[in-house]
Parts: sequence; C-alpha cells; structure tokens
Amino acid sequence: MVTTTAEARGQARGVVGLVPTMGFLHEGHLSLMERSAAECDLTMATLYVNPLQFDDPADLARYPADHDRDLALAEACGVDLMVVPGPEEMFPSPPLTGVTVAGIGERLEGEFRPGHMTGVATVVTRLLAALQPDRAYFGRKDAQQLAVVTRVVRDLGFPVEVVGCPLVREVDGLALSSRNVLLGRRRSKALALSRGLMGAADRFDQGERRATALEAAVRSAVPDDALEYARLCEASTMTGATMAEGETVLVAAARFGPVRIIDNVCLVADRRGASADRGVRLGHPSLIYGSE
Ligand code: PAJ
Repeated sequence: MVTTTAEARGQARGVVGLVPTMGFLHEGHLSLMERSAAECDLTMATLYVNPLQFDDPADLARYPADHDRDLALAEACGVDLMVVPGPEEMFPSPPLTGVTVAGIGERLEGEFRPGHMTGVATVVTRLLAALQPDRAYFGRKDAQQLAVVTRVVRDLGFPVEVVGCPLVREVDGLALSSRNVLLGRRRSKALALSRGLMGAADRFDQGERRATALEAAVRSAVPDDALEYARLCEASTMTGATMAEGETVLVAAARFGPVRIIDNVCLVADRRGASADRGVRLGHPSLIYGSE
C-alpha cells in the first residue's frame, strides 16, 4: 500500500481523492481520509514532512512521527494508497521554483512564518501535478492554507475540486494538531486559544459583528506574551474585515513555549441568517496520546 508518487499515479482509477498530510495522524486527518474514501473510487494520502514550509529548523527536527501507526490508521480509514515520497523524489535538488500567492499567502501565517505559505503552496502544487487527483481534501483548521490552495488551483487551472472539511477539536475544545503532543504541561495554558475563540463565537451568536470586539474576546483569554495574532478576515482573501458580515473567519495563533498553535472559527452572516462554525468535538481523548 506504500508507494511513490509515480507508482500511485499508475494505479489511479475512477474518481481519485487526495489527502495530503505530514503524518503523525490524528482524528482531524482521519476525518478527511474517511470523507475521501466515502466520496471517491480511490483514495491516496500522502505522508511527507515538507521541509520547504518550516521556517524554523528546530520545529522541523522535533516534528512528531509514527510511521507504522500512520499506515495502520490510514488503511483502517479506507485509504487505498499511502504515498510516502522520499526527499529525492519530491525535490531531487532544492527547487528554484516557488508558488507564492500574493496577498492571501503573505498575511498572518505568511508574516509570522516567513516562507511558510510559499512552502505549502509549492509542495501542494507538486503533489497535484504528480498525482492528478479529481478531489483534494483539506481541513478548515488551517483556514489560510485552504484559501491559498483554493487560489492556486484556480490561478494555475488544476482540474481538481478542493474540498474544505470541518475542524476537529479535542474533548475540551483544543483544535487537534500533531504538535499537541509536544505541549506537555503547557497544554492547559494552550486551551486559552480555543476558549477565546469560543467566547468570540458566543459574542457573535449574541449579535456582535464588530471585528474589534470579536478580536478582543480572544485577546482577553490569551496572555499577551503568547498571542501572535487574532484577526477577523474575509474567508477567501484573508484580508482584514471590520465587521463579521458575509463569510468571515476569526483566525488566531499563539505560542506556548516552543510550540505554536493556530485555530479559528468561521462566522457567516448574510440574508439567510447567521451561524458560527466552531468545528466538531471528539467524544473521547485523541489517539495521539495513546502512544505516550
Ligand atoms: P498536516 O498538518 O499534517 O495536515 C494535513 C491536513 O489535515 C490539512 O488539510 C489540515 O488542514 C488537516 N487538519 C489538521 N488538523 C486538523 C483538524 N484538527 N481538523 C481538521 N483537519 C485538520 O497541513 C499540512 O499537513 C501541510 O501543510 C500539507 C497540506 C500536507 C502540505 O505539506
């Protein structure tokens, strides 16, 4: 079941779904895989820790991995082909070509992690070109990444449908991330980020639309020295919004010790009504803590 990109493409049949990941799989990843398996004839998942998107070598060095567990989990979720490309297959020499999405990719994560969004857009472009899926599944956990990938596909004309999937949270609300295992005793402090966002979503439900007030709800929950940003943005362009009108997303990033986490809530207000999408919560502890 483990293949290279070239072998995987050779085995494609029917409607092909792709789930790109960096491994150390959790229930967020698995939800994308299950959805692809339900909607497509053949599901490919990639496991590649992309060095191009790490602005900090220490972050890359400590990125968690559990290859055998990943393979077993992906198979159980209906993944037909697990594509694990080696570095020489992906980038035999450091690429001179980078995919930069002006504006959308330059703000927020682009500002705080220089080169990160270009690294993501470049590797996703590389995977789409090599694997030629019909549908590609991405989580709303990474709202800016989803906006960037959607724009790359539109601008470069890849014949693929980008499917955005719900953000999955742990029982207490912390957005699931492979990096959560690195939080250790800082985990309880890190909960402030999702609590702040949930508080902002509650304010939105009560009728608050001002960006300043919604952002302040996050800022009041997270210590100043931890919070990198809390910003209300228009969802497809990630430009700052002054009011939560139309499709907006309140995105936030914070740093707890060496671990940086991001989270968001989608806030939609239009003629049909208003709704805050907080994602979905697990009813049990995440499997990422199982191997500790
Ligand atoms: P990674 O962080 O492994 O995430 C892989 C996919 O899982 C992404 O689409 C991400 O948005 C989704 N995901 C992660 N946590 C999630 C959660 N809590 N709920 C729902 N979906 C979640 O994102 C990347 O890898 C990389 O940037 C990648 C796209 C693979 C390019 O290298």
